[in-house]
Amino acid sequence: MAISEELIQQIKEENDIVDVISESVRLKKAGRNYTGLCPFHNEKTPSFSVSSDKQIYKCFGCGEAGNVITFVMKNKNLNFVEALEYLANRVNIEFAQTYEDKQNKNKKDLLYKLNVDVAKFFFNNLLNNKKANEYFSGRGITQGTIKKFGLGYSLDNWRGLLTYLKRKGYKEEQILENGLIIKSEKGNYYDRFRNRVMFPVFDYKGKVIGFGGRVLDDSKPKYLNSPDGPLFIKGTHLYGLNFVIKNNSFNRTFIIVEGYMDCIALHQYGITNAVASLGTALTASQAKLLKRYADRVIISYDADLAGQMATLRGLDILRKTGLEVRVLTVPKGKDPDEFIRSNGVDAFNKLIDEALPLIDYRLRKAKEGIDFNQSSMLIKYAKRVTEILAELNPIEKDVYVKKISEDTGIREQAVYDLLGRELTKNFSENRDMNNVEVIGHKLYIEPAYMKAERALLKIMSTIDEYYESIVNNIESSGFI
Ligand code: CTP
Ligand code: MN
Repeated sequence: MAISEELIQQIKEENDIVDVISESVRLKKAGRNYTGLCPFHNEKTPSFSVSSDKQIYKCFGCGEAGNVITFVMKNKNLNFVEALEYLANRVNIEFAQTYEDKQNKNKKDLLYKLNVDVAKFFFNNLLNNKKANEYFSGRGITQGTIKKFGLGYSLDNWRGLLTYLKRKGYKEEQILENGLIIKSEKGNYYDRFRNRVMFPVFDYKGKVIGFGGRVLDDSKPKYLNSPDGPLFIKGTHLYGLNFVIKNNSFNRTFIIVEGYMDCIALHQYGITNAVASLGTALTASQAKLLKRYADRVIISYDADLAGQMATLRGLDILRKTGLEVRVLTVPKGKDPDEFIRSNGVDAFNKLIDEALPLIDYRLRKAKEGIDFNQSSMLIKYAKRVTEILAELNPIEKDVYVKKISEDTGIREQAVYDLLGRELTKNFSENRDMNNVEVIGHKLYIEPAYMKAERALLKIMSTIDEYYESIVNNIESSGFI
């Protein structure tokens, strides 16, 4: 069956080549392009170049070249259709089953069925294991929640799952494809997940695509997750989304948290519009998936520094997807799970009501540690604010300049002036063509008419003959 040219085009357009290649090659910006070490031959100095404008790559060392699809084919050793499917999944484009060849479809169905059997196995283990049960009840998880989320336990045993699945007739290659077992150097297989409480990961349709497992104590690593495979691609799904959609009472508003336990605890307490991004910064693909069901998102990440960084990155991606974004801050460095367990659902709902719109959140962050009585700090603040406001449209800029002025007691005009001064400085520091776009944005903060007036005033005050000519031609009331 032929694949339509439009679908191929759409898949190419939505998978930016720089993003895709960055997942496996460390790229550095060099002028208009990106360079890195070529993944197709061995080298010590980078001769591999990726063009964002042209959406192509080329290695000047070994001659490999192509587009995003050929890159995935070569890098992941896939055929054309498989590469398309991988890229379609990566950005949540529905890749119609008619395009999958029959064999591929059968294979996938089997891997899904395997995962369901595994989830049932883990679930039954949990019923029979006191220690694992105590772990969940110790964290306030009810039997109902265990059932709803299909929670489980992986045995404290090197081949518990493997033995069980082989007895059921599965082959090692299949189990390996789903990432449930690992091949040792000697060629022996053993279970990936051992002695962990298990969280099946569902896609938005409710199919089991992978697993996460947590240790019962403080040992490391705290969580283990399924590796990428035919069913599971990191950063393309949202944990809990299937439950939110099924419930149907989410009002196109979602709460995004970081962890399995945060998501589960919120659901248990009746906040049934929570999803988790599972520890990574939100990806464009997750944002797009969310946009199908949501108009507004409230992001609630850890208050620690890493959490805040993740918040800022995630926010930008969400905003660019067209979602209205708010930021919920859990006090005292707790995560949502800890907070709701010790303070209850009403207290959490209050935090939801108090969540700040994105720009307000950023402006508040910019203000941290700033003493408005010190002029050096004011300039630092102006610089931060400039960056935040640069992305807004003129009306929003106006609103926020007013707000900043009220907040800080600085006259509005002075805020504009401070911004203007900072911008001129930036401009002379960055006369490099790569920055033109950024500068173009920033200069916009000071309206053109104001720049013109400033220029006129400067000329008037320094050159006598221009003074004459200007006062003769422009009324003083013409100046703002
Ligand atoms: N995570 C992971 N691997 C790790 C640590 C974290 O995959 N080694 C992911 C998990 O999805 C986890 C999320 O990141 O749920 C958030 O991590 P973290 O905040 O460290 O843990 P919590 O979710 O608070 O875990 P818990 O409450 O169980 O301690
Ligand atoms: Mn936690």
